[in-house]
Amino acid sequence: MPGDPRPIGVFDSGMGGLTVLRALLARLPLERFVYLGDTARLPYGTKSAETVQAYALQASRLLVSEGVKMVVIACNTASAVAVGPLTEALAPVPVIGVIEPGARAGVAATRNNFIAVIATEGTVKGGAYARAIAALRGDIRIVQQPCQVFVALAEEGWTDTRATHEAADHYLRPLFRGPSPPDTLVLGCTHFPVLASAIRAIIGSSVALVDSAETTALAVAEALEGEGLGSDGNAGGAGATRFFATDSPERFARVGEIFLGRPIDALSVELVDLRVL
Ligand code: DGL
Repeated sequence: MPGDPRPIGVFDSGMGGLTVLRALLARLPLERFVYLGDTARLPYGTKSAETVQAYALQASRLLVSEGVKMVVIACNTASAVAVGPLTEALAPVPVIGVIEPGARAGVAATRNNFIAVIATEGTVKGGAYARAIAALRGDIRIVQQPCQVFVALAEEGWTDTRATHEAADHYLRPLFRGPSPPDTLVLGCTHFPVLASAIRAIIGSSVALVDSAETTALAVAEALEGEGLGSDGNAGGAGATRFFATDSPERFARVGEIFLGRPIDALSVELVDLRVL
């Protein structure tokens, strides 16, 4: 079958999902991407499941209207509540979330069968990581901690400030105290990988830090292969990405660089209104 040149759609509540896009670009260099950050409505992590599902549906409708062949929910909070409804609503376009791959990576990393998960309030409250980990291995203990302030710090670009270290200390020290603490920390939020050095300063070097971006990219690669949707790059545009934001393209480009790890031209970021979808 000839390659499928249609782009892969990726969305997040803001810029954090660019950490997932970064991993996708590295793993799938022949693919094209459309990335949407719903920056006007961030954070999703403090909102109800119903609201997040409605936002996720609007975001994915925008991606589908741009002709994507697959939708990647690069937002843990939305993945936790919307993979099922989106899979149904967007069929036959496949939908992939970040929770399952993150849970799988955590399970693969732990040696003492004790995993800590940090995420937004919504993700922790919904228990999606606990369910996903339990489904993989019933004998693993889990401790979860909502770290909502991390989202604001990351979106502000405060990746390694005193405030970031204080927040990391506040959230993480209690989890890693005691005689047999978890040996694995799952970053259950797209925004947290950019705070890794502040997190590492609290948890020490022996704890495995698991970021679902890599494993999600692997899951996407496997799904493309399985469904025969991979691009052979012959149609051109390999690695090209179109960016959409629901607020301030200038801010999206400026802060987004931190997450993507390369410059974003503000003029290339298109402003969209999802409320009409
Ligand atoms: N993208 C969200 C997540 O991964 C974090 C930001 C938010 O609360 O919207 O859970």
